Amino acid sequence: MSNIVVIGSSSMDLVVTSSKRPNAGETIIGESFKTVPGGKGANQAVAAARLGAEVYMIGRVGEDSFGKTILENLKQNHVNISNVEPVTHIESGTAHITLAEGDNSIIVVKGANDYVTPQFVEKAIKLIKNANIVLIQQEIPEETVEYVADLCHQLGVPLLLNPAPARKISQNVIEKASFITPNEHEASVLFNDLTKGEALKKFPNKLFITEGKQGVRYFNGEKEIIIPTYKVDTVDTTGAGDTFNAAFAVALSEGMGMQESVRFANRAASLSVTKFGAQGGMPSREEVEESL
Ligand code: ATP
Ligand code: RIB
Repeated sequence: MSNIVVIGSSSMDLVVTSSKRPNAGETIIGESFKTVPGGKGANQAVAAARLGAEVYMIGRVGEDSFGKTILENLKQNHVNISNVEPVTHIESGTAHITLAEGDNSIIVVKGANDYVTPQFVEKAIKLIKNANIVLIQQEIPEETVEYVADLCHQLGVPLLLNPAPARKISQNVIEKASFITPNEHEASVLFNDLTKGEALKKFPNKLFITEGKQGVRYFNGEKEIIIPTYKVDTVDTTGAGDTFNAAFAVALSEGMGMQESVRFANRAASLSVTKFGAQGGMPSREEVEESL
């Protein structure tokens, strides 16, 4: 069983479903409202645990009812939460999601996730040292990502950076991460001075660009390849990227080959979009293996 540490956000997703998106200054009547656990870090932790990994989450929540629900949900999904601590006087992170016209739009309010500081992560250094792989995203402070990249490099632990949501990252982080998995928009922000082909070629077997229902593109050292994903009936794509990243980390840490790992992750991510909510459709190991 692989041992995975996820350093990142845990939030409550407040999801409105509507037939259209309102324009500025416009009020419209929506169809439904639901609160479901989310946050890129927690989503990746839950997805990896459902795929059979032993998962340790390093994160923060607020001392509020959302925080309690987030912790309970992580526990129910067998994620170790001894390093997820409440922050007093700061609310839990929230993501304000509109599902309309076949796509989502999201505003994230980071709240307690801003307290996943380098000092906080440092307390779990032993855990990180023993991990097969560390997963990190960008809903926590930039200096924490920088710190974790240096730390993993020093300790010789592979780091998978999911650079979402998009922001510029330092050359140091790009060099020290073992795997970087932007979607197409994030890749264009990260490598705005390069074409997609140039960026992929510069980082063989390290840069994996997820292209939604097309699949995943990377350069294998000889040529650029795209591994197609699977055709499914799409209900909600929120969390597809998180499921892909978690499954990719699980596969790599179990020693699967590169193409096999991408295929496994595409399969898991494609299953995740067939149900509502970021975590609603995240599959179990058996579901992925049966459908492969
Ligand atoms: P999100 O932010 O919605 O979680 P993302 O923008 O980070 O996702 P995408 O590139 O949209 O990432 O999707 C990640 C992976 O999920 C894809 O590479 C693919 O494997 C799978 N996927 C996404 N959308 C679909 C779809 N409609 N059908 C099948 N697979 C999909
Ligand atoms: O990647 C999906 C996640 O992004 C959602 O669960 C939401 O919390 C946003 O942060």
